[in-house]
Amino acid sequence: MHYAITGGAGFIGSHIAHRLLTEGHTVAVIDNLLTGQRSNLDVLAAVGGDRFAFHEVSITDADALKAAFKGAEVVYHQAALPSVPRSVADPLETHHHCATGTLTVLDVARQTGVRRVVYAGSSSAYGDQPGDFKREDMTPRPISPYGVAKLTGEMYCRVFTETYGLETVTLRYFNVFGPRQDPNSPYAAVIPLFIRAMLRGESPTLNGDGTQSRDFTYIDNVVHGNLLAASAPEASGQVMNLATGGRISLLDLVDKLNALLGTDIPPQFGPPRSGDIQHSRAAIDRARDLLDFSPIVSFDDGLARTVAWLRAGDGV
Ligand code: UD1
Repeated sequence: MHYAITGGAGFIGSHIAHRLLTEGHTVAVIDNLLTGQRSNLDVLAAVGGDRFAFHEVSITDADALKAAFKGAEVVYHQAALPSVPRSVADPLETHHHCATGTLTVLDVARQTGVRRVVYAGSSSAYGDQPGDFKREDMTPRPISPYGVAKLTGEMYCRVFTETYGLETVTLRYFNVFGPRQDPNSPYAAVIPLFIRAMLRGESPTLNGDGTQSRDFTYIDNVVHGNLLAASAPEASGQVMNLATGGRISLLDLVDKLNALLGTDIPPQFGPPRSGDIQHSRAAIDRARDLLDFSPIVSFDDGLARTVAWLRAGDGV
């Protein structure tokens, strides 16, 4: 089968592309390399050979997308400008890539005969809703421009299903981590940042008191959910969490990393971050019902694999 993957040079997109190429499919990657990495493309080219094509274009360029989506049955729309603090610093830029970009992807998909778009939604859509678990029937109440932009994208998905009959599935990711997640960006995610600091013997900096918690989700679980979402018949037009249902505080994270690294490095404490959510943990029954999804790699195993990857690489 032929797939198109926006953001395929990035962390999550390149993992999905890798898996599809390994299974013998053909894959077109669309990426403007704003946050994507050429090294990820090299890996894909080595695995896919002539079943892999790369289009260095922006998802906001409709004409270029038309060429790139040609013949694709399913589009995995992973391109975004991640990071809550980046969106606080420049909300228009985040909106452009996340909201306008998603609208463009959907509009081109419906014109080029794509059957289904699987959209990378975000747990940031919920905001700081009270309760232990974020459930899809909660009213979304994002508290950052990033959360608004990602939520806007999923609303466009639903409307394109209802209005144009384009199949869409929104998977709300919860703090995905794993190999190939870049620790070097000023907007890097907390796990690669903390591993890199602690491998250097430095204290990681907690924003606030470190009691905030996340349902950190290892990348293999996300790839697994995406593959199921391409074909699950009941999933079209739906929004669902894609996570493990776990709760790890940042203080727990530092403890676990010290145990894995055989160190005893204390964290340091900085000011709380604007737009930060205190607790984010997913109910995953809807993905279980609609996709037959259940996590395949635990947090602890995923963390060990991520440490091993960063330790072996030269990014640290
Ligand atoms: C949010 C989304 C996540 C999405 C990501 C995209 C939520 C709950 N999650 O992640 O699904 O993939 O945006 O960018 O909205 N922190 C520190 N020290 C640091 C760096 C971070 O303490 O040096 C803290 C942050 O303040 C936050 C936690 O670690 O409390 C996680 O931060 P980060 O990895 O940036 O992700 P989120 O903003 O939670």
